Amino acid sequence: MAVALIPFDDTDAAAFAATRELPRAGLERWRYAVQQHLRPRSGHTVLDLGAGTGAWANAFTDWFGVRILALEPAAAMRTRCPHRPLVGGDGTALPLRDTSLDAAWLSTMIHHVPDLDVLARELRRVLRPGAPVLIRSPFPGRHQRIALFDWFPEAVRVLDTYPGVARVRAAFTAAGFPVSTVEPVAQTTAASLAEYAAKLSRRAHTPLHLITDEEYETGLARLRVAARRPSGPVVDHLDLLVLR
Ligand SMILES: C[S@@+](CC[C@H](N)C(=O)[O-])C[C@H]1O[C@@H](n2cnc3c(N)ncnc32)[C@H](O)[C@@H]1O
Repeated sequence: MAVALIPFDDTDAAAFAATRELPRAGLERWRYAVQQHLRPRSGHTVLDLGAGTGAWANAFTDWFGVRILALEPAAAMRTRCPHRPLVGGDGTALPLRDTSLDAAWLSTMIHHVPDLDVLARELRRVLRPGAPVLIRSPFPGRHQRIALFDWFPEAVRVLDTYPGVARVRAAFTAAGFPVSTVEPVAQTTAASLAEYAAKLSRRAHTPLHLITDEEYETGLARLRVAARRPSGPVVDHLDLLVLR
């Protein structure tokens, strides 16, 4: 099985489940943006690849009334994922039939896949012609409206190692997805900076895993001081890259 940037062991999975699932009320822009590209219809099956603890699989089920097939390689994440159907497996060797799916959703997982070209070919194989791949991700060079990087600027160094929009596009174009669009989509990550600081868990964020302890402690101290002042909601913009 392919190796992710971090292990997604029991500690990571527990931190992710406790702190990274976003309040549904803060996701209305994502709901709208995804709907525009997904054009959901009853009878459609959408693959949630690297589904983690299943928060998006559950949201899509509620929002769009389509069947979501969650696929997740890490046993510790699967244990915490209540969504069904849920299968074990890897993006570079999908245990799925050819042309059996109507869309694929990949949320904050693309940087963990060691071979993007193989991933793109596997998605081409299992998706029906014209079916979209929707990738939600922070991309290198596009971090300016993500709060995490304000408080932990050294984490930009980690983000810079992630595949960029051009690299992902190249892999998917070569695999037979010639058309793509990219747009930033807003989400309310926390109601205030105080809530954001209280919820933050290093183990739940790959870029925070991969900076030094000193960089992390310095950033955390900076965030905690700022969080003592009243603030409005923390709004982040991740990108939605759609390929078809
Ligand atoms: C940051 S979590 C995101 C979980 C979920 N998509 C979300 O947004 O809440 C990344 C997930 O990708 C999974 N992953 C890592 N490498 C993968 C691969 N090669 N194929 C499929 N999933 C992978 C991890 O196990 C982990 O659950």
